[in-house]
Amino acid sequence: MVVVEANSSSMLIFAGSFPRRILFGRGALEKLPDVLSELTLGDRVMIVTGRRFARESGYLDKLQSILKSAGISKIVVFDRVKPNPPAEIVEEGGKLARNENIDFVVGFGGGSAMDAAKGIAVLATHEGRLREYYYPNEPKPPILPIVAIPTTCGTGSEVTKYAIFSENLRKNVMLGEHIVPVIAILDPNILDKIPRELLAHTAMDALSHALESYFHVKASDFSEMFSSEAAKIILDNFRKAYDEDRSSKEKLFYASMLAGIAINFTGTVIPHGLGYYLTEKFGLSHGLATSLFLTQFIEYVSKKIPERMLSLCDRLGIKLDDPSACAKALIERIDSLRSYANLPTRLREAGILEAELGNIIENGLSYKRNLENCIAPPTPDDIEEIIRKAF
Ligand SMILES: [Fe+2]
Repeated sequence: MVVVEANSSSMLIFAGSFPRRILFGRGALEKLPDVLSELTLGDRVMIVTGRRFARESGYLDKLQSILKSAGISKIVVFDRVKPNPPAEIVEEGGKLARNENIDFVVGFGGGSAMDAAKGIAVLATHEGRLREYYYPNEPKPPILPIVAIPTTCGTGSEVTKYAIFSENLRKNVMLGEHIVPVIAILDPNILDKIPRELLAHTAMDALSHALESYFHVKASDFSEMFSSEAAKIILDNFRKAYDEDRSSKEKLFYASMLAGIAINFTGTVIPHGLGYYLTEKFGLSHGLATSLFLTQFIEYVSKKIPERMLSLCDRLGIKLDDPSACAKALIERIDSLRSYANLPTRLREAGILEAELGNIIENGLSYKRNLENCIAPPTPDDIEEIIRKAF
């Protein structure tokens, strides 16, 4: 991987990858054969997806017939992916892909399906356990090409170099330029069937990506273009999307991809680091878990790096000169969206007991990479304060 160290005097330094093809628009799925014939990825494919949505929505059949029309001779469906994909299921999929001589994988679903597809693409060509490829190790080629087709508007995994797997009550990240999907297909028609609670949770994940990326040590003029635009679109369109407005959902879909690009060139920081344990231990959805620390994080950065808070708010159209007033205005906007969608805004509202706070602090502190990558790296006391305020 190319590593470029950013610093405050060189805001233009950045490095990262994009998929070779991104197709965005209604009907984009039908264009898959054109891209496949152009890129010649092979003719034996594994579809990696969850147990229900793809089948029940009719999209699994549709995808299979699209692949057949592209001249694919063999289609293996691996539909055992669960939310927060456990490593052993990915290992099972990897074994199957290897036995079936698969040429490329198609991840169809939310972040879990796309991340599982990434893990399977690695294990199809590499010996050993999935954990051997977790950060700080990096999977190296050959890795099967990945086609990513998201069905939620949150993760951005269709354009990112990340895959997150659950093992031993931890979120483990696999990270590398070679697991960036080769093709990303974003067809907003797929979102017609998304339950609105899922939409709200995943949009909060995307909003977190956008806001956290802005305060990441690798943030640059380049990443800020994506992160601030993504945040603005989500803040402006969340309500109508929640009310099933198709064009607003399409905008959220677009914004989640932009936020994915932003974190591909930066990363996530404090809210993600603290949210992981809530998902692993209490089963809260990733988007919800992360969002529970978002406003406390904004308050934190507005105090530590006020000029950055001002520049973010300026980009979001919040034109105030005082960083704490800016932060307050942004927090109010986020809170109003959360209450519109009936999302819990405090840990206690999400069913977390006060007695758990010690564990949440201890585990939160263990996600060092996320914490240290914040432009204003938090001390353990800062983390404790953020978590207690979030309670
Ligand atoms: Fe996320």
